[in-house]
Amino acid sequence: MLEIRNLSKEFENPYGDPNRIFNDFNIKINDGEFVVIIGSNGTGKSTLLNIISGILEQTEGDILLDGKNISNKPEYERTKYIGRVFQNPSLGTCPTMTVKENLSLAMNKGKLLNLKKCLRYNSETLEELLKGVSLDLKSFLDVKVKFLSGGQRQSISLIMSSLSNPSILLLDEHTAALDPKTSNEVMELTDKIVRKNNITTLMVTHNLKHALEYGDRLIMLHKGNIILDLNKEEKDKLSVEQILEKFEFAV
Ligand SMILES: Nc1ncnc2c1ncn2[C@@H]1O[C@H](COP(=O)(O)OP(=O)(O)OP(=O)(O)O)[C@@H](O)[C@H]1O
Ligand SMILES: [Mg+2]
Repeated sequence: MLEIRNLSKEFENPYGDPNRIFNDFNIKINDGEFVVIIGSNGTGKSTLLNIISGILEQTEGDILLDGKNISNKPEYERTKYIGRVFQNPSLGTCPTMTVKENLSLAMNKGKLLNLKKCLRYNSETLEELLKGVSLDLKSFLDVKVKFLSGGQRQSISLIMSSLSNPSILLLDEHTAALDPKTSNEVMELTDKIVRKNNITTLMVTHNLKHALEYGDRLIMLHKGNIILDLNKEEKDKLSVEQILEKFEFAV
C-alpha cells in the first residue's frame, strides 16, 4: 500500500510569497489499485508523482510504501521499487542501445552484475515479453531505440518498468505525445501490463476517455486538493461531459 500523510509542498518564489501546492494532503492507495489522476494544468499532478519518486523533496509529510517510510530515501534508491514512464518518449530508455539491450538491462536491474552480463538475455523470455504487443516491436529487437517511433519507445519503457516487479508504477501523461491511434494502443498495453502483474499504478492523463475507460479509481486534483475520488462503480456511471462539467466547476 502507498500512503501519503500530511503532505505539504512549497516552492520558493524569488518575487514574493512561496508557492504552496499541497497543504496537509493525505491519500491511501491499496495494493494492485490502478488509480487515474486528472485535473487542470498546474494543479500539482506531476509534483505529486515527483515527490513520490523522490525527484522533488516534500516540505512536510511522509510517504509510506508497504509500511516503510521512504520520505528521506534518495531518488536512485526509490527506482528499485518505483517504476516510471514519462510524457517524453526520449526518457526512460537508453537511445543508443538496441531494444534487446534495453530489455536485458531492465531484466537484470538491481542485480550486481557487470555490464556485459547485464546485456545477456534469454530469447524465449524476450519473445514472451513482446508477444501480442502491437507496433510490431518484435521486428525491432536489434534496432537502436533512438530510431523507434514515440509509441514504440513508450511501449518499451512500459515493458521495462514492469520487469523489475515495482511496488508502484507512476505514469505521467505517458501517452500525451502520441497520435490518437498509437495512444490507444499504448493504453491497451498499459492496462495489460498493469493487470497481468497486478501493479499498484498512478496514471496522470488529460485524456478523459482513457480516464473513464481504464483504472479502478478516478481522482480529480484541484490546486493540490482531491475534489473527486470515485471507485470503479461510481466512475463507470460518469460520462466525459460530466467530468468536463466538474472541470468548469473547479475554479
Ligand atoms: N521545480 C519547481 N519549481 C517551482 N515551481 C514548480 C516546480 N515544479 C512545479 N512547480 C509549480 O507547481 C505547480 C504545479 O505544477 P505541476 O507540474 O505539478 O502541475 P500539473 O498538474 O502536473 O500540470 P500539467 O497538467 O500542466 O502537467 C505549478 O504552479 C508549477 O509552476
Ligand atoms: Mg504535469
